[in-house]
Order: sequence, then structure tokens, then C-alpha cells
Amino acid sequence: METSPWTHTTVLLNEAVDALFNKPDAMPGEAAPADGMYVDATFGRGGHSRLILSRLSPRGRLIAFDKDPEAIAQAALIKDPRFSIRHEGFAHLGELPPASVAGVLMDLGVSSPQIDTPGRGFSFRFEGPLDMRMDTTRGQSVAQWLETAETSKIAEVIRDYGEERFAGPIAKALVARRQARGPISTTTELAELVADTVKTREPGQNPATRTFQAFRIFINAELEELQEALKASLDILQPGGRLVVISFHSLEDRIVKQFIAKHSREVYDRRAPFAAPQVMKLRALDRIKPGAAEVAANPRARSAIMRVAMRTDA
Ligand SMILES: C[S@@+](CC[C@H](N)C(=O)[O-])C[C@H]1O[C@@H](n2cnc3c(N)ncnc32)[C@H](O)[C@@H]1O
Repeated sequence: METSPWTHTTVLLNEAVDALFNKPDAMPGEAAPADGMYVDATFGRGGHSRLILSRLSPRGRLIAFDKDPEAIAQAALIKDPRFSIRHEGFAHLGELPPASVAGVLMDLGVSSPQIDTPGRGFSFRFEGPLDMRMDTTRGQSVAQWLETAETSKIAEVIRDYGEERFAGPIAKALVARRQARGPISTTTELAELVADTVKTREPGQNPATRTFQAFRIFINAELEELQEALKASLDILQPGGRLVVISFHSLEDRIVKQFIAKHSREVYDRRAPFAAPQVMKLRALDRIKPGAAEVAANPRARSAIMRVAMRTDA
């Protein structure tokens, strides 16, 4: 399938929305429109949001979040009184009233328009400023951070968020280059510096893939925000409410998986072996990966994993 740089092909569109509405087996048109309040924590280009809206009754509500001003501009085109958009990180989910939400969806990471717009600096495939902020209205770009960051911090970021074996040498090369000729400021400069430093190649992968991933995760505080948003979802979901999270790399999926496992586990008090276990707040329901047809049509879906959990009435 051809994708234009300005569109985003939604991953697991029907699967995610079905999971949110708790009707995985319903035939189209079978499920009654829902009245509740739903959250799309990652509006992007609104693929999931539009399908959610189509399943809501006139009393239903959809609140969407996105950090990206371009996503917010797209959301403003939806003229539906049941819909509202917030230009905020989804760590702000906890500001919604407790136990008020019937379903929270998070489709993590970057959208195709972000990756495919050279001026955003997310991709080593295009020359552009080394920015990588999802929210271009605040915070530091990667280039600004690299102007002063210490070697040890740069290495830690590349190792922890990129799982890159050559984190140390790449960090040293970045700082040596800064001292010799000033800091790098473009995607191409970063890609070339990493390619010159990383001596072994992973088949089919650009040598700078891991470093770009690491800087993007760091500069957007992606994993910290995910932890916060997951915690907040426990408070805002009503009993029976659904948590649906689509992640695209192992660092994200590990956090989601461990979070669901931690809150789904019955905890017994060893000092009171006959007492009832501490009640669990979530029940793990499903783990879904895109099928072969979806991956063939949209290569970005290849690494997606969707996890579904239900808020219990604990
Ligand atoms: C994969 S896209 C979502 C695509 C969307 N489901 C669709 O169908 O169009 C991820 C979106 O989430 C946004 N995003 C990522 N992390 C965020 C965060 N912590 N808070 C708010 N938005 C975030 C990105 O800016 C991007 O627009």
C-alpha cells in the first residue's frame, strides 16, 4: 500500500476499538452504541478516534490527547460535540475524574507523518534538523541537548533506550566531534557519525537505528510518561473499563506487560496465610499481534503488540 508522508495508516484499528468496547466477537452493527467516556491518549491522525466516535451513542464522549501541534490541528477538524482534544502529554490522564472512564487506548510511539517529515528530524532517511520533539512548542531538541550533554549521560541514553552495544564509542565520538568542530545539528550528521563508529552491521538495519530510537525516547521522556499514564489509568478507569495499549518496541512492551502483571496478581500476606488475598486492580485479557495481511500492507505494524486489560472493581 502506498502511504503519503501526510497520512498515518492506523495499526490494529478494529482490534483495538473492539477491545476497548468489550465486544471482541460482535459483528459489525451488532454492538449497541456506547454511552460512556472514552480516552484516546494518542490521537495522531485520528484513525482510532474516528472509529471510536462511530461506536458512541449521542451521550458518549471521547477525550483525546496528543503532544504534537500538527496532530492537534488535525483533531480540530473533527466537529463533533462528543469529541474534545487536549494538547498535553498523556501523563496528564490522571487529571480526569476518578473511576469516570470506560476505556483508555494508547497507540504508542510516533506517527508516520512525524517520521516522514524531514523537518521533524526523526528519521535518518532524510536530511533535517536534529529535533525529534513530539511537542515542538516546548522542551529541548536533541541537537540542543547534545550541545552540552556529558559523555557518560549520552552513553547511558544510547545504551538504556537503544540497547546499543556501541553506546560508549558513539557517545565519545559525539563529544570529540563537538570539541573539534562544534556540535552536530542534523540527522545526516548523526547517521554518518554513528555509521563511522559502529563497526558491525545488523542485517537489514541502518547502523543508526538504535541511536535514533534512543534519542527519541529520551528527548520525549517516552518511558516515564508511559509509566505515569498507566498508573493514572488505574484511577480513572471505572470497574469493567478497558485498558488497551499498542507498543512498538520491547522497552515499551516490557513496561506494559509488567504493569498489567503486577496489578493482576493476587498478593497473599505471608503472615496471615488464611486471610483473603489483596484484591487485584486489573485482569489481563488479551495479547494481540497484527496478522500477516496487515503487516504486508503496513510494514510499521510488524513490531506492534497490543495488550488488553480490564479494571476490576477493587
Ligand atoms: C502511533 S501515533 C497514533 C496514531 C493514531 N492512533 C491514529 O490512528 O492516527 C502516536 C501519536 O501519539 C503521540 N504521542 C506519543 N507519546 C505521547 C505522549 N506521551 N503524550 C501525548 N501524545 C503522545 C504522538 O505525537 C503521535 O501523534
